[in-house]
Amino acid sequence: MLETEFLGLKMKNPLFLASGIQGVTKANLEEVCKFAGAVICKSLTLETRKGHETPIMVETNCGFLNAVGYSNPGIDAGLEEFFGWKKKEPLILSITARTVTEYETLAEKISHKIKDGMRIDAFEVVLSCPHTPEYGLMAGQQTPETASEIVKAIKKHVSTLPLILKISPGIPGEVEVAKAVEHAGANAIDVGNTIGPGMVIDIERHARLPGFGMGGLSGPAMRPIAIRCVYDIYNAVKIPIIGCGGITYGKDAIEFMQAGASVVAIGTAVYYRGTNVFSKIAKEMEKWLHGHNYSSVKEIVGLAHK
Ligand SMILES: Cc1cc2nc3c(=O)[nH]c(=O)nc-3n(C[C@H](O)[C@H](O)[C@H](O)COP(=O)(O)O)c2cc1C
Repeated sequence: MLETEFLGLKMKNPLFLASGIQGVTKANLEEVCKFAGAVICKSLTLETRKGHETPIMVETNCGFLNAVGYSNPGIDAGLEEFFGWKKKEPLILSITARTVTEYETLAEKISHKIKDGMRIDAFEVVLSCPHTPEYGLMAGQQTPETASEIVKAIKKHVSTLPLILKISPGIPGEVEVAKAVEHAGANAIDVGNTIGPGMVIDIERHARLPGFGMGGLSGPAMRPIAIRCVYDIYNAVKIPIIGCGGITYGKDAIEFMQAGASVVAIGTAVYYRGTNVFSKIAKEMEKWLHGHNYSSVKEIVGLAHK
């Protein structure tokens, strides 16, 4: 009932692990494969990054604010780590960069690894982080012009691997960005990243949180914004959409799919409900589908548009 296909990849359920949630090791992602339909690794940059000052995450009463700042071992170590992926669940490699030239270098490195026999099922290009200087929103990458320039530059080097473009919902003009990247050759859109940046004040220490002074908001508070964004983008493009933002229960995933997402990604709910949250959400979705006489989850994609 939950089996589906996304970009030609077979999945036991339509639930992805979102990027950045379960560390950067292959062992961690393999563990999540017991429950999720596919996994997305932590975003990799050209060089090793230490990331922002701690605390990197703060809980609010409606989700989390995070400012991790892309701490990761860098693309070379990341590609080494994930070489030899054997799980049947698809592995999506997530990348991000400061400039078009850096994106091209990342693409070249990926292309070489593929030629060496590395299995990567798709890759996600993230130009939407709201809290890392020189990257994503802080570098103004989420515009139709810059986003399509990035997609075209990457596609020159890696044309065969499906490219998923990840945006942050709630930024004016997101539909135009989606149309531009579809035209530039993107194969899917992930909607989306955290929103913001936002800020929390520790009133006893009179200090801003997280450590960077601001961070991206994830979790239930952002869900209505992401749903609206998925709904609008579904109307504007033909490429499939990954819905992401605040999915905690089966009904949230169903809401995203009715808005137009073919599959969904889950991040913050792992902190709330554990690594097996994917199985819990899958069971809740099955119950809903059964109760409403659907035989396949594919039948509900875009239902809210009918
Ligand atoms: C601690 C943390 C780290 C994250 N790191 C990344 C990252 O490296 N790359 C990325 O594209 N998104 C990253 N995200 C965003 C998530 O992948 C996801 O898009 C966002 O949290 C919204 O989904 P959620 O509400 O289910 O968490 C991160 C989110 C959190 C909470």
